[in-house]
Amino acid sequence: MTSPDASTVTWRPLADAHGRVARDLRVSLTDRCNLRCSYCMPAEGMAWIPGRDLLTDEEMIRLIRIGVERLGITEVRFTGGEPLLRPGLPEIIAAVAGMRTVAGERPGIAATTNAILLPRLAGRLAAAGLDRVNVSLDTVDRERYARLTRRDRLPQVLAGLAAAEEAGLAPIKINAVLLPGLNEADAPELLRFCLDRGYLLRFIEEMPLGPRGAWDRSRMVTAADILAMLRRDFELRPAPAPRGSAPADRWLVAAGVDRAGRAHPAGEVGVIASVSAPFCGACDRTRLTADGAVRNCLFARGERPLRGLLRGGATDEELIDAWVGEMATKAPGHGIDDPSFLRPDRGMSAIGG
Ligand code: 5AD
Ligand code: SF4
Repeated sequence: MTSPDASTVTWRPLADAHGRVARDLRVSLTDRCNLRCSYCMPAEGMAWIPGRDLLTDEEMIRLIRIGVERLGITEVRFTGGEPLLRPGLPEIIAAVAGMRTVAGERPGIAATTNAILLPRLAGRLAAAGLDRVNVSLDTVDRERYARLTRRDRLPQVLAGLAAAEEAGLAPIKINAVLLPGLNEADAPELLRFCLDRGYLLRFIEEMPLGPRGAWDRSRMVTAADILAMLRRDFELRPAPAPRGSAPADRWLVAAGVDRAGRAHPAGEVGVIASVSAPFCGACDRTRLTADGAVRNCLFARGERPLRGLLRGGATDEELIDAWVGEMATKAPGHGIDDPSFLRPDRGMSAIGG
């Protein structure tokens, strides 16, 4: 499916020295958030990126356009912090929806959100061209939600999910992180909630990207722990589809009745063993931070700032060289389990999930 003019545009793959090519661009639109999830931020918030350092909507759009039209990006995902806090989000989405990939197609457009602003924005974002949302939801128990996120907002999240469905932002995926002693026992209830509504639930192992001291490898709830817990209530079979670059290990859930006698429909669940069984070998991601740096990995110690180039009048070719150069140095893996592992200087909220 090559459009007539696509062959006349020159493009370069975002390739690294380990045989991987990035096609999935994660764009962090802000480091701010309206929650304070304990695995992500300290209670009092962070030292925010100063406003003058944030890329403007136009600068963001220029870089995304270069990614899509000149560097082989086929999927654009907006993250944060909380991306729905970015006032220009509908305009940015509309601009991306008007871009064409090197194969002449419209790029896929998704967002990872905590859903709090979806009641207000889902319709507008869908109309602008947003295809799908991933909603971060770690428990459906209101009290534990408030404890984990430090905000009593579960009712808004539930309204946000309903608004996303209404707006056709399907399939809705739910990302959940289980914290020892906090919400780990909530996994079966969360799965039942998702099965009942047809949402695709994925559990993600907690990664060392939150407040210093919050992560403890020896206490981390592992993918194996999660599967063992779910198997007490649900019948799971490995999903047949190939894994590809999608990080989730997918399981089909048979329709059935749990130990409490409650019926649930069939569906699926994913478990992302980001720490205990990393999928770095199949990674196809490249990242752009809200202040205009390219990162080749969530865990990269280095990054390539593009803001200075952008504001200094760089040509597209110069920006392409810098982006390609940064991706070429991508490490084979994050090495979280190596004794020599050093966490990145930015936390999750300033990189984008
Ligand atoms: N470990 C794993 N997942 C995390 N997220 C945020 N911080 C962490 C962490 N330390 C998740 C959020 C969100 C996605 C962007 O990343 O739950 O769904
Ligand atoms: Fe906000 Fe997401 Fe961090 Fe929670 S995990 S505080 S929703 S950025």
